Amino acid sequence: MTDQRDTTRDIDHDIDPRTLDVLTCGSLRAEDSGQHVTLRGWVNRRRDLGGLIFIDLRDRYGLTQVVFNPETAPDAHQIASDVRNEFVLEIAGRVRARPEGTVNAKLATGEVEVEATTAVVLNPSKTPPFYINEDADVDESLRLAHRYLDLRRLPMQRNVLLRHRVVKHIRDVLDGQGFVEVETPLLIKSTPEGARDFLVPSSSSPGSFYALPQSPQQLKQLLMIAGLDRYFQIARCFRDEAQRADRQPEFTQLDLEMTFVDQETIMALMEGLYLDLVDRFSPYSVRERPIPRLTYADAMARFGTDRPDLRFGLELRDAGPALAGTAFNAFRGVLDGGGQVKAIVAPGCAGYTRREIDALTDLAKSAGAKGLATIAVDAEGVRSPIAKFLSGEETTALTTGLGAAVGDLVLLVADTAPTVAKALSALRTTLGDRLGLADPNEIAFCWVYEFPLLEWDADGNRWDATHNPFSGFYAEDEQLLDTDPGAVRAKQYDLVGNGAELGGGSIRIHRREVQERIFGLMGHSAEARADRFGALLDALEYGAPPHGGIAMGIDRLVMMLTGEENIRQVIAFPKSQRGFDLLFDAPAAVETAQLDDLGLALKPKQEPKGA
Ligand code: AMO
Ligand code: AMP
Repeated sequence: MTDQRDTTRDIDHDIDPRTLDVLTCGSLRAEDSGQHVTLRGWVNRRRDLGGLIFIDLRDRYGLTQVVFNPETAPDAHQIASDVRNEFVLEIAGRVRARPEGTVNAKLATGEVEVEATTAVVLNPSKTPPFYINEDADVDESLRLAHRYLDLRRLPMQRNVLLRHRVVKHIRDVLDGQGFVEVETPLLIKSTPEGARDFLVPSSSSPGSFYALPQSPQQLKQLLMIAGLDRYFQIARCFRDEAQRADRQPEFTQLDLEMTFVDQETIMALMEGLYLDLVDRFSPYSVRERPIPRLTYADAMARFGTDRPDLRFGLELRDAGPALAGTAFNAFRGVLDGGGQVKAIVAPGCAGYTRREIDALTDLAKSAGAKGLATIAVDAEGVRSPIAKFLSGEETTALTTGLGAAVGDLVLLVADTAPTVAKALSALRTTLGDRLGLADPNEIAFCWVYEFPLLEWDADGNRWDATHNPFSGFYAEDEQLLDTDPGAVRAKQYDLVGNGAELGGGSIRIHRREVQERIFGLMGHSAEARADRFGALLDALEYGAPPHGGIAMGIDRLVMMLTGEENIRQVIAFPKSQRGFDLLFDAPAAVETAQLDDLGLALKPKQEPKGA
């Protein structure tokens, strides 16, 4: 299966350059033949044919071929023979149809060329550290250190422009539905979203710190209490946590909140918006509409994760029933201890070598499993390191029960439910990838909902919010807060696309006593509650309306629409994999005088916690 993205030179989804009040390198067409024009742009490529010189002049709208003839324009030809790639050039000349056979159908300007009469170098360029005009693989730190050059390259221009179009569309759609964009401050008091805060010291109050928002969560709830019943914001968020392919320390959310709203309304609003965005801005197709919904319990049981990639099956299956009477210690012990034995059936993998199976075993172990048991189903029978521990009937019941056919490889993990889920989900993702089970031209969305409100934090000996501490819960589960807090279902919903968490939100708690009760379960003392959440708790007592919302990752959205696998590809000036700004070299040391103003002194470096 191949990626259907168009790789021709012109940029999609951009404005038609001919509607602009300036002439660009993407403007000229056959009907412009005979006109005298002036063009400015960068030298994308120069071909010196001995006599004639051809230069492709580039700007963000496209490429125009310029011809320099030594007979008719010797001065311009001389300049053209001296310029190099990325020089900024201004040329004037006459538009003419390209000779028969030299038309370039891939370019909007491909039917014409400009015969230059004059040329001026507006600025020369050093030789760039990498090719701008080719889509070659370039070391990413080099690209980030010269991001202004990297952003001149076609794939990056496309991503920047697409991002602009997407955000503009979101703003227009929401504005049309009565939503108001409100800017909330970046210097706030820390709001907990589970990551470490970036702190900002204050000179007016030495020793005190602002925090950069991990999200505008409390502020948007306050806006609901303020009566601004439909809020959104394209909001910058900051989280000091380990980077991943889809995580940046500084990222952007479509943050949204509504008054007098239920889960259904918010999910429908986002569903409409996201399906429309894919149709408008992406070459991919949506696998299933309306977007399928899975409860958290279902998602965990079937896929072992709360963000399943639904482009392929390879579901987890319960091997427990077939093993009910097993004498095999590793399984018996787990089943008796309340654990699970579950499996995935890898199609056509019966021939995997010892080495390939060892690699899968390592993967399962790195996800916490104690081992991985495999059963290869051949025409002659089964081959398995655990065959000797199982009776013939048991093995047959197992493979049949799991639906394994000849040629398949059964992968079994026995452990506690969370470990089984984690290990088999990792195996499912890896095998799905290796076997090419996901159609790269498809987007499979799903909603995951009915998350548990709280999870037990054994280290802290307390309950913790699975998402955020402001999420509300199903009224019928309320009495479970006393008896079985882990079983309370939150009114929380996440949108997932191709295995990535695209966004999440909840219906909030809007009564102070309920919010206090949740904070209590989370082990916050009355003083800590007043200190960290005082403003919100107080506000809940002044006629706070029922409300709820969601926040969607804009960077992840654009990744999905463009098919980029790395978040840095869709951010103009991202941090490196290790969280550094390689362009300006930040973070960096500051002058002692600046520290003095802030009342700060540096201690010898300590390893950060958890490093
Ligand atoms: P949450 O923490 O789930 O919810 O964030 C919402 C969405 O933001 C995106 N996201 C990120 N994108 C890039 N880099 C990161 N480091 C990063 N962290 C999160 C994801 C995620 O789904 N206030 C709540 C929302 C609410 O309840 O309304 C919140 O921030 O796509
Ligand atoms: P052992 O009896 O520990 O030597 O294990 C025999 C086989 O069972 C090996 O192939 C192990 O990988 C597998 N095995 C052991 N424990 C587990 C487990 N918890 N889940 C899946 N397979 C296991």
